Amino acid sequence: MLRRPRRNRNHPVMRSLIRETHVSTNDLVFPLFLMEGYNQKSAIAAMPGIYRLTTDLILKEIEYCMSIGIRSFDIFPVVDDAHKDAQATKSYQEDFFYLRALREIKVKFPDAHIITDIAMDPYSSDGHDGLVSGGTILNDATLEILGKMALAQAATGIDMIGPSDMMDGRVGYLRKLLDKNGYQDVGIMSYTAKYASAFYGPFRDALTSTPKFGDKKTYQMDPANRKEALLEAQLDYKEGADVLMVKPALAYLDIISDLRDNFPVPIAAYNVSGEYAMIKAASQKGWIDGFGAMLETLTSIKRAGADIIFTYFAKEFAEGQKG
Ligand code: PBG
Repeated sequence: MLRRPRRNRNHPVMRSLIRETHVSTNDLVFPLFLMEGYNQKSAIAAMPGIYRLTTDLILKEIEYCMSIGIRSFDIFPVVDDAHKDAQATKSYQEDFFYLRALREIKVKFPDAHIITDIAMDPYSSDGHDGLVSGGTILNDATLEILGKMALAQAATGIDMIGPSDMMDGRVGYLRKLLDKNGYQDVGIMSYTAKYASAFYGPFRDALTSTPKFGDKKTYQMDPANRKEALLEAQLDYKEGADVLMVKPALAYLDIISDLRDNFPVPIAAYNVSGEYAMIKAASQKGWIDGFGAMLETLTSIKRAGADIIFTYFAKEFAEGQKG
Protein backbone atom coordinates (compact mmCIF):
# COMPACT_ATOMS: atom_id res chain seq x y z
CA MET A 1 0.00 0.00 0.00
CA LEU A 2 1.47 3.31 -1.07
CA ARG A 3 -1.22 5.29 0.67
CA ARG A 4 -1.53 4.54 4.36
CA PRO A 5 -3.50 7.41 5.93
CA ARG A 6 -2.76 6.01 9.38
CA ARG A 7 0.94 7.00 9.02
CA ASN A 8 -0.04 10.63 9.59
CA ARG A 9 -1.90 9.70 12.76
CA ASN A 10 0.92 7.88 14.53
CA HIS A 11 2.69 10.72 16.30
CA PRO A 12 0.71 13.18 18.45
CA VAL A 13 2.82 16.07 17.18
CA MET A 14 2.15 15.07 13.58
CA ARG A 15 -1.55 14.93 14.40
CA SER A 16 -1.40 18.45 15.75
CA LEU A 17 0.66 19.65 12.75
CA ILE A 18 -2.01 18.54 10.33
CA ARG A 19 -5.06 19.47 12.40
CA GLU A 20 -7.31 21.55 10.14
CA THR A 21 -9.63 23.13 12.67
CA HIS A 22 -8.69 24.97 15.85
CA VAL A 23 -11.20 26.42 18.26
CA SER A 24 -9.94 29.23 20.46
CA THR A 25 -11.47 31.56 23.01
CA ASN A 26 -11.22 34.25 20.30
CA ASP A 27 -14.00 32.47 18.40
CA LEU A 28 -16.49 32.47 21.25
CA VAL A 29 -19.31 34.70 22.41
CA PHE A 30 -20.68 34.01 25.89
CA PRO A 31 -24.43 34.60 26.29
CA LEU A 32 -25.37 35.96 29.73
CA PHE A 33 -28.75 36.29 31.47
CA LEU A 34 -29.26 39.57 33.30
CA MET A 35 -31.96 39.98 35.95
CA GLU A 36 -33.12 42.88 38.08
CA GLY A 37 -31.94 43.26 41.68
CA TYR A 38 -28.75 43.18 43.65
CA ASN A 39 -26.33 40.41 44.58
CA GLN A 40 -28.53 37.57 43.38
CA LYS A 41 -27.97 34.59 41.17
CA SER A 42 -30.59 32.08 40.21
CA ALA A 43 -29.92 28.70 38.66
CA ILE A 44 -31.52 27.60 35.39
CA ALA A 45 -32.65 24.01 35.86
CA ALA A 46 -31.89 22.70 32.37
CA MET A 47 -28.62 24.64 32.03
CA PRO A 48 -26.25 23.44 34.77
CA GLY A 49 -23.52 26.00 35.44
CA ILE A 50 -25.48 28.91 33.90
CA TYR A 51 -27.23 31.48 36.09
CA ARG A 52 -29.45 34.52 35.84
CA LEU A 53 -27.34 37.28 37.41
CA THR A 54 -28.05 40.75 38.76
CA THR A 55 -26.03 43.64 37.32
CA ASP A 56 -23.38 43.68 40.06
CA LEU A 57 -22.75 39.94 39.58
CA ILE A 58 -22.74 40.17 35.80
CA LEU A 59 -20.02 42.80 36.09
CA LYS A 60 -17.97 40.36 38.16
CA GLU A 61 -18.68 37.55 35.71
CA ILE A 62 -17.50 39.68 32.79
CA GLU A 63 -14.37 40.67 34.68
CA TYR A 64 -13.56 37.03 35.38
CA CYS A 65 -14.32 35.90 31.82
CA MET A 66 -12.09 38.66 30.41
CA SER A 67 -9.28 37.39 32.63
CA ILE A 68 -9.51 33.95 31.02
CA GLY A 69 -9.77 35.23 27.46
CA ILE A 70 -13.52 35.51 26.76
CA ARG A 71 -14.08 39.04 25.47
CA SER A 72 -17.42 39.00 23.67
CA PHE A 73 -20.76 38.77 25.47
CA ASP A 74 -24.38 38.58 24.35
CA ILE A 75 -26.66 39.91 27.06
CA PHE A 76 -30.30 38.84 27.46
CA PRO A 77 -32.74 40.45 29.91
CA VAL A 78 -34.86 38.36 32.29
CA VAL A 79 -37.96 40.51 32.69
CA ASP A 80 -40.47 40.16 35.50
CA ASP A 81 -43.99 39.36 34.27
CA ALA A 82 -45.21 42.56 35.93
CA HIS A 83 -43.07 44.56 33.49
CA LYS A 84 -44.31 42.81 30.36
CA ASP A 85 -46.97 44.24 28.07
CA ALA A 86 -48.26 43.73 24.53
CA GLN A 87 -46.00 46.48 23.11
CA ALA A 88 -42.78 45.50 24.95
CA THR A 89 -42.69 49.06 26.27
CA LYS A 90 -39.93 48.40 28.78
CA SER A 91 -37.54 47.44 25.99
CA TYR A 92 -36.89 51.08 25.14
CA GLN A 93 -37.39 52.78 28.51
CA GLU A 94 -34.05 54.37 29.25
CA ASP A 95 -34.17 53.74 33.00
CA PHE A 96 -35.09 50.05 32.65
CA PHE A 97 -32.52 47.83 34.38
CA TYR A 98 -31.33 46.17 31.16
CA LEU A 99 -30.37 49.45 29.51
CA ARG A 100 -28.86 50.82 32.73
CA ALA A 101 -26.77 47.67 33.11
CA LEU A 102 -25.52 47.87 29.52
CA ARG A 103 -24.34 51.42 30.15
CA GLU A 104 -22.56 50.31 33.33
CA ILE A 105 -20.91 47.37 31.59
CA LYS A 106 -19.51 49.53 28.79
CA VAL A 107 -18.24 52.15 31.24
CA LYS A 108 -16.56 49.57 33.43
CA PHE A 109 -15.28 47.34 30.63
CA PRO A 110 -14.80 49.44 27.50
CA ASP A 111 -12.67 46.62 26.05
CA ALA A 112 -15.43 44.06 26.34
CA HIS A 113 -17.36 43.48 23.12
CA ILE A 114 -21.06 43.70 23.94
CA ILE A 115 -23.87 42.34 21.77
CA THR A 116 -27.51 42.97 22.64
CA ASP A 117 -30.70 41.18 21.67
CA ILE A 118 -33.37 42.77 19.51
CA ALA A 119 -36.76 41.02 19.72
CA MET A 120 -39.92 41.61 21.70
CA ASP A 121 -40.21 38.25 23.47
CA PRO A 122 -38.37 39.00 26.73
CA TYR A 123 -40.66 42.01 27.30
CA SER A 124 -43.85 40.80 25.63
CA SER A 125 -46.90 39.62 27.59
CA ASP A 126 -47.66 37.45 24.53
CA GLY A 127 -44.23 35.80 24.60
CA HIS A 128 -43.77 36.44 20.88
CA ASP A 129 -40.91 38.17 19.08
CA GLY A 130 -43.33 40.48 17.26
CA LEU A 131 -46.46 42.48 17.94
CA VAL A 132 -49.56 40.31 18.19
CA SER A 133 -52.97 41.27 16.86
CA GLY A 134 -55.89 38.86 16.70
CA GLY A 135 -53.58 35.87 16.93
CA THR A 136 -51.21 36.95 14.15
CA ILE A 137 -47.81 38.62 14.25
CA LEU A 138 -47.71 42.06 12.60
CA ASN A 139 -44.47 42.43 10.70
CA ASP A 140 -44.23 46.11 9.85
CA ALA A 141 -45.68 47.43 13.10
CA THR A 142 -43.10 45.31 14.93
CA LEU A 143 -40.28 47.06 13.05
CA GLU A 144 -41.15 50.36 14.71
CA ILE A 145 -40.85 48.82 18.17
CA LEU A 146 -37.60 47.06 17.26
CA GLY A 147 -36.33 50.42 16.02
CA LYS A 148 -36.99 52.11 19.35
CA MET A 149 -35.30 49.19 21.10
CA ALA A 150 -32.25 49.41 18.83
CA LEU A 151 -31.81 53.15 19.36
CA ALA A 152 -32.15 52.80 23.13
CA GLN A 153 -29.57 50.01 23.16
CA ALA A 154 -27.19 51.85 20.83
CA ALA A 155 -27.34 54.87 23.12
CA THR A 156 -25.83 52.77 25.95
CA GLY A 157 -22.58 52.37 24.00
CA ILE A 158 -22.90 48.69 23.07
CA ASP A 159 -21.00 47.40 20.05
CA MET A 160 -23.49 45.29 18.08
CA ILE A 161 -27.19 44.63 18.07
CA GLY A 162 -28.45 41.12 17.42
CA PRO A 163 -31.90 41.11 15.83
CA SER A 164 -33.24 37.64 16.71
CA ASP A 165 -36.87 38.31 15.81
CA MET A 166 -37.00 37.13 12.15
CA MET A 167 -39.33 39.91 10.98
CA ASP A 168 -38.95 40.68 7.25
CA GLY A 169 -36.97 43.79 6.42
CA ARG A 170 -35.70 44.45 9.92
CA VAL A 171 -32.00 44.53 9.08
CA GLY A 172 -32.43 47.29 6.50
CA TYR A 173 -34.89 49.15 8.70
CA LEU A 174 -32.54 49.07 11.71
CA ARG A 175 -29.43 49.91 9.66
CA LYS A 176 -31.05 53.03 8.24
CA LEU A 177 -32.39 54.11 11.60
CA LEU A 178 -29.04 53.61 13.34
CA ASP A 179 -27.23 55.55 10.61
CA LYS A 180 -29.72 58.40 10.67
CA ASN A 181 -29.14 58.76 14.39
CA GLY A 182 -25.36 58.76 14.27
CA TYR A 183 -24.84 55.12 15.19
CA GLN A 184 -23.15 54.04 11.96
CA ASP A 185 -20.46 52.24 14.01
CA VAL A 186 -22.94 49.98 15.79
CA GLY A 187 -22.87 46.63 13.98
CA ILE A 188 -25.66 44.22 13.12
CA MET A 189 -25.22 40.56 14.02
CA SER A 190 -28.25 39.27 12.18
CA TYR A 191 -30.01 36.09 13.19
CA THR A 192 -30.38 35.28 9.50
CA ALA A 193 -31.35 31.62 9.36
CA LYS A 194 -33.14 31.12 12.62
CA TYR A 195 -35.19 27.95 12.67
CA ALA A 196 -38.38 27.15 14.61
CA SER A 197 -36.54 24.75 16.88
CA ALA A 198 -37.31 22.50 19.83
CA PHE A 199 -33.81 23.29 21.12
CA TYR A 200 -34.75 26.71 22.55
CA GLY A 201 -36.71 25.24 25.51
CA PRO A 202 -34.20 25.87 28.33
CA PHE A 203 -33.64 29.47 27.13
CA ARG A 204 -37.38 30.17 27.22
CA ASP A 205 -37.52 28.74 30.74
CA ALA A 206 -34.63 31.01 31.73
CA LEU A 207 -36.48 34.08 30.48
CA THR A 208 -40.04 32.84 31.17
CA SER A 209 -40.65 33.82 27.56
CA THR A 210 -42.53 30.80 26.24
CA PRO A 211 -45.23 31.99 23.77
CA LYS A 212 -48.63 32.36 25.45
CA PHE A 213 -50.34 30.90 22.38
CA GLY A 214 -49.28 29.06 19.26
CA ASP A 215 -45.68 28.74 18.15
CA LYS A 216 -43.12 30.78 16.22
CA LYS A 217 -43.52 29.01 12.88
CA THR A 218 -44.92 32.02 11.03
CA TYR A 219 -41.62 33.85 11.48
CA GLN A 220 -38.90 31.33 12.34
CA MET A 221 -37.88 28.98 9.53
CA ASP A 222 -39.00 25.43 8.84
CA PRO A 223 -36.17 23.04 9.87
CA ALA A 224 -36.75 21.15 6.63
CA ASN A 225 -35.65 24.07 4.42
CA ARG A 226 -32.18 24.70 3.08
CA LYS A 227 -32.67 26.98 0.03
CA GLU A 228 -34.72 29.38 2.10
CA ALA A 229 -31.63 30.12 4.22
CA LEU A 230 -29.95 31.47 1.09
CA LEU A 231 -32.90 33.79 0.48
CA GLU A 232 -32.81 35.08 4.06
CA ALA A 233 -29.04 35.53 3.77
CA GLN A 234 -29.33 37.43 0.47
CA LEU A 235 -31.81 39.83 2.01
CA ASP A 236 -29.82 40.39 5.22
CA TYR A 237 -26.62 40.82 3.23
CA LYS A 238 -28.20 43.39 0.90
CA GLU A 239 -29.81 45.16 3.85
CA GLY A 240 -26.41 45.66 5.45
CA ALA A 241 -25.93 42.88 8.01
CA ASP A 242 -22.31 42.77 9.23
CA VAL A 243 -22.50 39.11 10.29
CA LEU A 244 -24.95 36.37 9.27
CA MET A 245 -25.97 33.91 11.95
CA VAL A 246 -27.32 30.38 11.78
CA LYS A 247 -29.31 29.12 14.74
CA PRO A 248 -29.34 26.46 16.19
CA ALA A 249 -25.91 25.19 15.22
CA LEU A 250 -25.60 21.42 15.49
CA ALA A 251 -28.63 20.31 13.51
CA TYR A 252 -27.84 23.00 10.91
CA LEU A 253 -24.18 22.47 10.00
CA ASP A 254 -25.16 22.24 6.32
CA ILE A 255 -26.69 25.72 6.52
CA ILE A 256 -23.53 27.13 8.14
CA SER A 257 -21.50 25.63 5.32
CA ASP A 258 -23.86 27.03 2.64
CA LEU A 259 -23.72 30.57 4.01
CA ARG A 260 -19.96 30.43 4.39
CA ASP A 261 -19.57 29.36 0.76
CA ASN A 262 -21.91 31.99 -0.61
CA PHE A 263 -21.43 35.23 1.33
CA PRO A 264 -18.32 37.38 1.85
CA VAL A 265 -19.16 38.30 5.44
CA PRO A 266 -18.36 36.48 8.68
CA ILE A 267 -20.70 33.66 9.66
CA ALA A 268 -21.82 33.08 13.24
CA ALA A 269 -23.55 30.03 14.71
CA TYR A 270 -25.56 29.85 17.93
CA ASN A 271 -24.92 26.66 19.91
CA VAL A 272 -28.28 27.00 21.68
CA SER A 273 -29.58 26.15 25.13
CA GLY A 274 -31.02 22.75 24.22
CA GLU A 275 -27.74 21.69 22.65
CA TYR A 276 -25.97 22.66 25.87
CA ALA A 277 -28.59 20.90 28.00
CA MET A 278 -28.25 17.61 26.11
CA ILE A 279 -24.51 17.38 26.66
CA LYS A 280 -24.79 18.47 30.30
CA ALA A 281 -27.57 16.00 31.08
CA ALA A 282 -25.86 13.01 29.49
CA SER A 283 -22.58 13.94 31.11
CA GLN A 284 -24.16 14.30 34.57
CA LYS A 285 -25.57 10.81 34.18
CA GLY A 286 -22.10 9.55 33.34
CA TRP A 287 -23.29 8.53 29.89
CA ILE A 288 -20.84 10.63 27.87
CA ASP A 289 -17.60 12.49 28.44
CA GLY A 290 -19.03 16.00 28.69
CA PHE A 291 -15.78 17.90 28.10
CA GLY A 292 -14.92 15.78 25.08
CA ALA A 293 -18.42 16.17 23.65
CA MET A 294 -18.16 19.93 24.11
CA LEU A 295 -14.83 20.12 22.26
CA GLU A 296 -16.11 17.94 19.45
CA THR A 297 -19.29 20.03 19.16
CA LEU A 298 -17.46 23.35 19.00
CA THR A 299 -14.96 21.91 16.55
CA SER A 300 -17.72 20.66 14.26
CA ILE A 301 -19.38 24.08 14.21
CA LYS A 302 -16.12 25.77 13.33
CA ARG A 303 -15.26 23.09 10.75
CA ALA A 304 -18.63 23.65 9.06
CA GLY A 305 -17.60 27.26 8.53
CA ALA A 306 -18.59 29.39 11.51
CA ASP A 307 -16.17 32.22 12.34
CA ILE A 308 -18.02 33.06 15.55
CA ILE A 309 -19.69 30.64 17.96
CA PHE A 310 -22.23 31.74 20.55
CA THR A 311 -22.04 29.13 23.29
CA TYR A 312 -22.92 28.60 26.95
CA PHE A 313 -19.76 26.48 27.07
CA ALA A 314 -17.53 29.53 26.55
CA LYS A 315 -16.36 29.84 30.15
CA GLU A 316 -15.85 26.11 30.60
CA PHE A 317 -13.90 25.97 27.33
CA ALA A 318 -11.66 28.85 28.37
CA GLU A 319 -11.05 27.30 31.79
CA GLY A 320 -10.14 24.04 30.09
CA GLN A 321 -7.59 25.84 27.89
CA LYS A 322 -5.87 27.25 30.96
CA GLY A 323 -5.55 24.01 32.90
C1 PBG B 1 -35.79 34.94 20.98
C2 PBG B 1 -34.54 34.16 21.23
C3 PBG B 1 -34.51 32.80 21.50
C4 PBG B 1 -33.19 32.45 21.69
C5 PBG B 1 -32.43 33.60 21.54
N1 PBG B 1 -33.28 34.65 21.23
C6 PBG B 1 -35.61 31.83 21.68
C7 PBG B 1 -36.74 31.82 20.76
O1 PBG B 1 -36.64 32.20 19.59
O2 PBG B 1 -37.80 31.44 21.23
C8 PBG B 1 -32.75 31.05 22.02
C9 PBG B 1 -31.36 30.87 22.47
C10 PBG B 1 -31.10 29.55 23.08
O3 PBG B 1 -31.94 28.61 23.05
O4 PBG B 1 -30.00 29.38 23.63
N2 PBG B 1 -35.70 36.18 20.43
